[in-house]
Amino acid sequence: MKLIWRYAVATATVLISYTIWKLSMYLRVLTLDENHIKYDKQLIGLNFSTVLADWSNLDCREKEILLGKQMCRPECKPGYFSLDGFRECHPWLMCEEIREEVKQTGELVGSGAVKQVYLAEWKGYQIAYCNLTTASYKDDFHHGLEMIKSFQHSEFVVQLVGYCHSDDVMLLEYHPLKSFDNMNSILSQETFSHFNTVLLRFQLCIRYVEILNFLHTGPLGTYVMCDSNDLFKTLSQYLVTDDMSLVVADLDALPNVDHKSGITAKCGHRELIGRFVAPEQLWPYDDTDFNDDNMPGYDEKTDIWKIPDVVDFILGDIPGSDAVRFHLFKIHRKCKEVVAKLRPSTLDIIKEYKLTYSYFRNTRS
Ligand SMILES: *[C@@H]1O[C@H](CO)[C@@H](O)[C@H](O)[C@H]1NC(C)=O
Ligand SMILES: *[C@@H]1O[C@H](CO)[C@@H](O)[C@H](O)[C@H]1NC(C)=O
Repeated sequence: MKLIWRYAVATATVLISYTIWKLSMYLRVLTLDENHIKYDKQLIGLNFSTVLADWSNLDCREKEILLGKQMCRPECKPGYFSLDGFRECHPWLMCEEIREEVKQTGELVGSGAVKQVYLAEWKGYQIAYCNLTTASYKDDFHHGLEMIKSFQHSEFVVQLVGYCHSDDVMLLEYHPLKSFDNMNSILSQETFSHFNTVLLRFQLCIRYVEILNFLHTGPLGTYVMCDSNDLFKTLSQYLVTDDMSLVVADLDALPNVDHKSGITAKCGHRELIGRFVAPEQLWPYDDTDFNDDNMPGYDEKTDIWKIPDVVDFILGDIPGSDAVRFHLFKIHRKCKEVVAKLRPSTLDIIKEYKLTYSYFRNTRS
């Protein structure tokens, strides 16, 4: 009798502590706010010297990685921009200012089919100068510009500094760490070695899915990130900011889908091949050749299919990355469902990622 009693107490204790632990995990996840995930300075163990000025309405970020300090800038209304150290917002630069005040350095920092990106200078500030490559992409260039303009309220989108329609030019904030596809080479540099942790890499993965979530569920509708036919192309749409976060920089190929009215998307007019793209993006008929008119459309779930490959690449091959991969196995298997409808939403994935993040964060500290 005594033995049974003991067993009962022991089992109850285990059950209760397990429940409390599980509950505390969920609570932690619920209270994990944006900043918590974004830049875990405590975790990386850095010492920030704070240089807070007494201006109101400032957006301040830790920029240890390049500048060794916190930098602030005012938050701006649409039509205005600000860079680190600005005391007030400046209206977007227009044709005349661009022609007269922007100095070219001639250094090419990025290029795609639609536009080239050069490093330029305006009043001592580095900015990105983007111009059209060939006239045949004029529409895409201006569509991309309109998208960037209409998404300026979002922290997920690169900041517009100015544009000139008649010259086919737009200016964007310059991010010296460049695009997301450089992540492994950035983190493998000696200077950045203290950032090369699995948790920081995982934070970037969470941010990546948060950006997709913004594109899929934003106030303006559901958009599919179409510039994503291979891993490199997908990663190169995002820029790494110097507070170790991400922004989306290229919105040239961002079709809208609307489930209610049955509007689907297609990424280009050519046949897509390979295992990186989602199965529904492949030509479905074996017995006939590809014909764009007969190619069925698809939706934002193509982005979900690609998430495991992106995350796998960003987690890299460092201590702890396999343990994180193991925890993500189940959700990633769901992302690879052949039937698009069965794949999880970005929000489901973010929830699971944050749970895993907080688990690894807790076991480390
Ligand atoms: C942090 O940096 C400041 C300024 O460089 C220094 O005075 C302070 O001792 C440092 N604190 C720690 C805990 O290292
Ligand atoms: C784009 O800008 C660069 C740098 O000023 C310039 O050299 C190049 O000729 C421009 N390209 C076009 C197509 O205007």
